[in-house]
Amino acid sequence: MKRILVLNGPNLNLLGVREPDVYGTVTLADIEREVAAYAAERGATVDCFQSNHEGVLIDRLHAARGVYDGIVYNPGAHTHYSYALRDAVSSIDVPTVEVHLSDISSREDFRKVSVIAPVCIAQIKGKGKEGYKEAVDVLLGR
Ligand code: DQA
Repeated sequence: MKRILVLNGPNLNLLGVREPDVYGTVTLADIEREVAAYAAERGATVDCFQSNHEGVLIDRLHAARGVYDGIVYNPGAHTHYSYALRDAVSSIDVPTVEVHLSDISSREDFRKVSVIAPVCIAQIKGKGKEGYKEAVDVLLGR
């Protein structure tokens, strides 16, 4: 049985009420439920975790070593500047897929850069909650 960690960074706890014109009205709980069901149909289990704190996310990534077969990770705004989280991903040797609900390449200039994508096996953007399921497919297809 494959184990997948679905990790979400800052402000993603506010999905559903946060900038619905950009992120839609789906909540994080909706996404987590759907991804867990999607993974279960494919014989995998999912644990979900969200934090607004960089250090807490680093600790969660470290704790994933040897426990999970893959990580689906939406780093939120950390995407664009957190070398600490990039180093955490590259330190743990667990294949990680970066996911964004919105298409970060067609928004403000600062969002076009991801410092985390180079240490991930794939980046999926602009597909809303479906992107999380696509990330599961990428991990299970390895
Ligand atoms: C996001 C895109 C980021 O630029 C932003 O800071 C987020 C959400 C997305 O899912 O589209 O918090 O990661």
